[in-house]
Amino acid sequence: MTVDYDFDRIISRRGSGSIKWDRFPNLDPFWVADMDFASPPEVLEAVHQRAEHGVLGYAHPHDGLVDALTTYMQKRHNLEVNESEIVHLGGLVSALSMVARAFGKRGEQIMTCTPIYPPFLGVQNDAGMQCISVPHILEDGAWGFDWNAMEAAVTPQTKIFLLSNPQNPLGRVFTQAEILKLAEFCERHDMILVSDEIHCDLVLDEVATPHVCAAGLPEHLQNRIITLLAPSKTYNIAGMGYAFAVIRDDSIRRKFEAARGHMLPEINCIAFYTAEAAYSHGEPWRQALVAYLRKNKDTLTAFVRDNMPDFKVPNIEATYLAWIDCRSLDCKNPATYFEKEASIYLSDGSFFGAPGHVRFNYGCPHARVLEGLEKIARVLA
Ligand SMILES: Cc1ncc(COP(=O)(O)O)c(C=O)c1O
Repeated sequence: MTVDYDFDRIISRRGSGSIKWDRFPNLDPFWVADMDFASPPEVLEAVHQRAEHGVLGYAHPHDGLVDALTTYMQKRHNLEVNESEIVHLGGLVSALSMVARAFGKRGEQIMTCTPIYPPFLGVQNDAGMQCISVPHILEDGAWGFDWNAMEAAVTPQTKIFLLSNPQNPLGRVFTQAEILKLAEFCERHDMILVSDEIHCDLVLDEVATPHVCAAGLPEHLQNRIITLLAPSKTYNIAGMGYAFAVIRDDSIRRKFEAARGHMLPEINCIAFYTAEAAYSHGEPWRQALVAYLRKNKDTLTAFVRDNMPDFKVPNIEATYLAWIDCRSLDCKNPATYFEKEASIYLSDGSFFGAPGHVRFNYGCPHARVLEGLEKIARVLA
């Protein structure tokens, strides 16, 4: 049976306590990474059912959730994962901070490549560390790693590499060869490799660019790999706060868990159930979503090419985020410029370590994507 999901439906989010819509109530928001779609019906049903129980005390990851996670790892990633290798988390940004505190000391370094999701450039502060950022390079229209620059920048004090794959904001899905080369780079320099794969179920063409899960890399590399996953981006449940890590190696898993300290709250009792429902029943919805996002991506790419010829959008392979090169504007903060001139709110590249760019969130009804792009085009005209 095929079900039609209505991704065209405009749902008013103003006044719903949404960061995206209510932080800047006078601006049209295309910034923070959540989508303007309702979550799958089964996920919403899980919220109702759990709430109807009436008692909302401290929560334990129930068997249904653990089954859903191990089945998800099996079906989507073709990996056998034991319950003992899973660490339940209330979010991934705090997990990045846990990694810094678990594996880094004051004065040591974390390496990452820019442009990158801003917290990757900030979590080193939680452990008194420093950040070494190496720019990604654009070669033949595809973003990649600058291996020479990374080798030149790494030092004996560099302890952690933070990877976003699929990459936010570039939308790249790194190949098996790239991920393996990166893991070997980390092995050579004795670094922990953190692979944040929060966007891995939003690959727009899984045949052309299959996602490579770091938890599936060869066993001898797993003693330095932490893989971070979540249903939050895909099923639009970021506000619930649930994510998980897969850590094969007992010793690094224990160190990671110890870094929780007393700083992280318990995980939301409803979030466990929405995560279970998303992974157990959300697949048809996810496939329809990805097809819809592909259409939005094609519209955006064509619109920029036809109406903003001086701007550039290299090929987007995943996510609902477009990284637009606006350096032709010759303006330091293009997002601020569009905010003033077009009353539209975009994410500014400077937060990602690459000024002169904006990130446009096209995880919204198609008509809204066009509306946003037209506002930008009118200003440029
Ligand atoms: C790469 C990446 N990691 C982590 C997060 C946020 O994760 P969480 O909401 O679980 O802290 C985002 C959100 O956009 C992201 O893009």
